[in-house]
Amino acid sequence: MIAITGASGHLGKATLDFLLTKTNPESLVAIVRDSQKVTEFADKGVSVRQGDYTDPASLVASLAGVDTLLLISSAVLGEERVRQHSNVIAAANEAGVKHVFYTSAPNPSLTSSFTPAIDHFHTENLLIGSGLTYTIFRNNLYLDVLPMVIGDAVQTGKLPYPAGDGKTSFVLRRDIAEGLANALTATAKHENKVYDIGASTAWSFSDLAAGLGHDGTTVAYLDIPGSAYEAELAKHLPPPAVTIFAGMAEGIKKGEFDVPSSTLAELLGREPLSLDEFLKSLA
Ligand SMILES: NC(=O)c1ccc[n+]([C@@H]2O[C@H](COP(=O)([O-])OP(=O)(O)OC[C@H]3O[C@@H](n4cnc5c(N)ncnc54)[C@H](OP(=O)(O)O)[C@@H]3O)[C@@H](O)[C@H]2O)c1
Repeated sequence: MIAITGASGHLGKATLDFLLTKTNPESLVAIVRDSQKVTEFADKGVSVRQGDYTDPASLVASLAGVDTLLLISSAVLGEERVRQHSNVIAAANEAGVKHVFYTSAPNPSLTSSFTPAIDHFHTENLLIGSGLTYTIFRNNLYLDVLPMVIGDAVQTGKLPYPAGDGKTSFVLRRDIAEGLANALTATAKHENKVYDIGASTAWSFSDLAAGLGHDGTTVAYLDIPGSAYEAELAKHLPPPAVTIFAGMAEGIKKGEFDVPSSTLAELLGREPLSLDEFLKSLA
């Protein structure tokens, strides 16, 4: 039996979609806080169980009979996030789960500029030290979040961002989901592996700006100072969000997301969607 926590989120639902094309619904468990969010899967025969990362007893109960678990990282950040992930790993051990897949981030370390990667560093260590068989998907930045970064660049002809020449192996969330589904249904090949999950290439913000120009219009990448970007973010976002987004830009500039890898292409049996293909789909 394969279970997914965070099954009500974007990545969880997409992974369930792909799993349903590969295995029967009776072998799938969607673990969620609110069952109303996944009625489409219950209707197809997937078991829906209640489990909250903050409630260890609910997690142990939800994992009964599960062999393989996909732990989708929590949306909260910092120590609370690590505590929640620790609850899931402990519950998996208690419930007799054999193999845990975890969604991490590139280059997790105590000194990551992208602060969520610090939580991933701690969680990876907890999982690897847990005695459970593990597979870690270090998912690169989603292409899906790029529209937020691009903003009105196409209209203004300017893409201001403080990433220098830093490159990112952006990846479509649904491609990650398909890769996860393929790995979750062939677990033996992926035991105790840590994968960099993203495109086989990496793109700079100059590449992004070039891809945004079309029909004779051009977009220029403006490599602005990090402090100017932070000040702009602070006009619209609360301080914790400013820290994350400013840290993400700094991390890109330092190369934390410059992790081209053929692993996802191998899992998919094709290249994942490229930056250009994604930008064309937006246009
Ligand atoms: N690589 C990237 O660019 C990128 C971007 C954004 C996020 N992420 C990370 O990747 C994860 C998956 O991405 P996503 O797009 O699927 O995010 P998402 O749509 O926000 O889904 C997050 C999931 O986590 C669940 N969750 C949150 N707190 C929980 C708790 N206390 N107990 C049980 N479940 C809980 C949510 O449940 P509810 O439906 O009940 O809220 C939801 O199902 C995110 O959670 C985040 O850690 C990565």
